Amino acid sequence: MAVKTKKAVPIGRQAATKKSNTIKLKFDTSWTYAPAPESKSAATINKQYDLFINGEWQKPLSKKYFDTINPANEEKLSEVADANAADVDKAVKAARNAYEKTWKKMPAKERAKYIFRIARIMQEKARELAIIESLDGGKPIKESRDFDVPTAANHFFYYAGWADKLEYAFPNRTTEPLGVAAQIIPWNFPLLMAAWKIAPAIATGNTVVLKSAETTPLTALKLAEIIQEADLPPGVVNIITGAGATGAAMVNHPDVNKIAFTGSTDVGKIIQRSIAGTDKKATLELGGKAANIIFEDAAIDQAVEGVINGIFFNQGHVCCAGSRLYVQESVAKEVIRKLKDRLESLIVGDPMDKNTDIGAINSKSQLDIINKYIGIGKKEGAEMYQSSCRLPGKGFFCRPTLFTNVAQSNRIAQEEIFGPVLAILTFRTEDEVIEKANNSPYGLSAGVWTDKGSKIFNMTKRMKAGVVWANTFNKFDPTSPFGGYKESGFGREGGLHGLLPYLNLKS
Ligand code: NAI
Ligand code: MG
Repeated sequence: MAVKTKKAVPIGRQAATKKSNTIKLKFDTSWTYAPAPESKSAATINKQYDLFINGEWQKPLSKKYFDTINPANEEKLSEVADANAADVDKAVKAARNAYEKTWKKMPAKERAKYIFRIARIMQEKARELAIIESLDGGKPIKESRDFDVPTAANHFFYYAGWADKLEYAFPNRTTEPLGVAAQIIPWNFPLLMAAWKIAPAIATGNTVVLKSAETTPLTALKLAEIIQEADLPPGVVNIITGAGATGAAMVNHPDVNKIAFTGSTDVGKIIQRSIAGTDKKATLELGGKAANIIFEDAAIDQAVEGVINGIFFNQGHVCCAGSRLYVQESVAKEVIRKLKDRLESLIVGDPMDKNTDIGAINSKSQLDIINKYIGIGKKEGAEMYQSSCRLPGKGFFCRPTLFTNVAQSNRIAQEEIFGPVLAILTFRTEDEVIEKANNSPYGLSAGVWTDKGSKIFNMTKRMKAGVVWANTFNKFDPTSPFGGYKESGFGREGGLHGLLPYLNLKS
């Protein structure tokens, strides 16, 4: 665009100046978007929430409540019940009763109708759910709006479709539900994890007691309201709140048939020890340290964007985050330069602003973990680069960070950080990078960027990871199974595979 004054005038990120007949474009870093905050008034959050047991809101027998805050400004949003072992017992009894008397006897196509109804009401309340998700957990509104909420509703739609078709999923076998499922979820995808757990469980005829994570209980409680509105028979889904002790009471309850857990590897190991010697079934979806691999023949700009999405999406609070980047030596310089440029342009700040790329870290304790690892990286001798963005004065925020000159043995290349921190390593050959990528206690996901189909097939065959994305990253779909190898856990969620952990197959 031509301008009359001599001074450069910013247009977007580029400032144009007209000098004689040529137009020069120069980078202007002072440019910012006007704020575009989503309105909080479109969501209703109660001052206090009780436990959703047997289709009703029940006061906790513990008589205790705890606060949930907005991590972007540290203000209290609400308080929720802290369920004790007696509350868990009440919820499990309600689930057992609903299982025996109603749900397992109901024709599958009738069960499906309820699940379709839940999915539709979720869609109707999508905006409110997205707002609450961003307020309670700190993720950018564009993610909760465009990813979390629609994908959660899609899981209910998808599994509603399977409910009366199990004979096609498992031909020549008869299927039987397991009974009562205790489901424990983390804080990184609060509503989506609730959907991943509840939808396949009830579609296959089980009943549920679900506990949300202590920092992000609000969307699961909204889901309880939706379940009530959908008229689901009382006790089929019970939603309770509490911390680790509540989760442990669920795992140890003698009348639970199945445990479904997503969270840290440490708690996964505790759960496995607790249920050893019982006939409880379990699926565990634990940590990860995904390798994202860029070959020299890849479309570099596309790969850079994929890497950025892979690690900075949801503040890096993603078990399958591409937190280790392996770049082929010949293109390492170019890739690192482009990553740094892109890092600078990421917008960090208010999760409710529609322009925000990176929102708030979920809690003070998670921010402390991330900062501890940034310190470890520096001490290990890796070279740190952080975006120069200004962070808000209140709340828990972290600059997007990358480390170069990282060694395979460094802790930042081995351990899960669960934050916006990328470790960059280089490689020369295919064999070398496969060996390095597989040299991890985890095996949840991986990414490969290359122009060659044969390379993709070779890599996907030899990588020890539950999901390997090719020329993309962090793509999810209800029809596609997800789950880990090694210390990333076992069992699959999503797709036809996701039905199996909730069924006994008979001849
Ligand atoms: P966590 O594993 O303690 O929490 C996950 C869920 O388990 C929460 O609902 C929690 O209340 C529950 N829980 C805690 N102790 C329990 C017990 N003994 N028995 C049954 N349930 C229990 O994870 P936390 O402490 O919030 O995060 C710590 C680290 O774990 C993170 O820094 C990250 O590395 C990893 N993590 C991994 C996740 C994943 O999606 N794979 C999700 C959350 C955390
Ligand atoms: Mg919160």
